[in-house]
Amino acid sequence: MAKLNFGGVEEEVVTREEFPLEQARELLSTETIAVIGYGVQGPGQSLNMRDNGFNVIVGQRKGGKSWDKAVADGWVPGETLFELEEALSKGTIICYLLSDAAQIELWPTVKANLIAGKSLYFSHGFGITYKDQTGIIPPADIDVYLVAPKGSGTSLRRMFVEGKGLNSSFAVFQDATGKAREKCIAMGIGVGSGYLFETDFYREVTSDLTGERGTLMGAIQGIFAAQYEVLRSNGHTPSEAFNETVEELTQSLMPLVSENGMDWMYANCSTTAQRGALDWWKPFRDATKPVFEKLYNSVKSGEQASISITRNSQPDYRVKLEEELAELRESEMWQAGSTVRGLRPERN
Ligand SMILES: NC(=O)c1ccc[n+]([C@@H]2O[C@H](COP(=O)([O-])OP(=O)(O)OC[C@H]3O[C@@H](n4cnc5c(N)ncnc54)[C@H](OP(=O)(O)O)[C@@H]3O)[C@@H](O)[C@H]2O)c1
Repeated sequence: MAKLNFGGVEEEVVTREEFPLEQARELLSTETIAVIGYGVQGPGQSLNMRDNGFNVIVGQRKGGKSWDKAVADGWVPGETLFELEEALSKGTIICYLLSDAAQIELWPTVKANLIAGKSLYFSHGFGITYKDQTGIIPPADIDVYLVAPKGSGTSLRRMFVEGKGLNSSFAVFQDATGKAREKCIAMGIGVGSGYLFETDFYREVTSDLTGERGTLMGAIQGIFAAQYEVLRSNGHTPSEAFNETVEELTQSLMPLVSENGMDWMYANCSTTAQRGALDWWKPFRDATKPVFEKLYNSVKSGEQASISITRNSQPDYRVKLEEELAELRESEMWQAGSTVRGLRPERN
């Protein structure tokens, strides 16, 4: 592992320099990696591992869009693509990449196939951490670990194809063979990670649930909506409100923040903007920090997991989610966004 300095705090992380792809391939050369589920992470991870020269099969229930997608991506029924039970029995590393709610439902079938020496791999600490609610308790004689890419499976694949990598966390929950950690890191390299940082299942799930409810999705949409509504209620046009709230951020500023950091972005904008942003970021931090504390406590207590399991296990959960998603999609702000995106000039 490489010891690196993160803003004055030392952390050990894994990069391809300490753990080259060749070493990962060699370590897992006798394994059959069964990717169970072909939703969002399934395609990204399985295709990257396949292209990295790992021995991969896919397990997916037949008859839906995901099966057809797997076939379209080159997985061959009966050779590298199987129904769930068959893939579970063939695999020696079981990558459990069904939706978190479906993982609960399928657990008895998965458990029945977990013979001694196999590995159970997750991309989220959810099922294991909230075992009282999920019932996911693995047998003691298997390895259990996770690699959680910090982004969508779509980005994982896209970045891999571009020769880049998405950073991932990794964690070992149970080491029955004495090789769990090595195998876990090898899987992290195989799925196309950038660098890998170590965590445990509990910290993975609490940070992940907080992040997606917070700045990654929940908080950002809340702040967008608040600013957009204030501008609109003060007579600004949708175009002005949307450009000033979202478009400038995503098109101009965030790519610069990604390349150089927020500090650089602040230092390289007008002094008028600098003055204002320096004066206002702390009031925004102070106003939202109590909401983040409340969110983190709700995650920590298991309340967020409970809401997610209960709501996403109902038979009509997709219809209900779709209703709420439609509200977002049909809001003036995102309708304005659709129009603005359509007006972006295409240059060849
Ligand atoms: N989304 C991400 O990018 C992301 C990022 C990091 C970590 N993760 C973690 O990765 C894991 C997989 O997440 P995901 O977003 O890729 O999952 P997802 O897209 O929601 O998974 C859908 C998969 O589950 C199958 N499925 C759903 N209900 C089922 C049932 N009742 N019986 C059998 N199969 C069923 C689907 O098959 P059908 O199409 O046939 O329904 C499909 O293969 C989760 O632990 C998640 O937390 C996800």
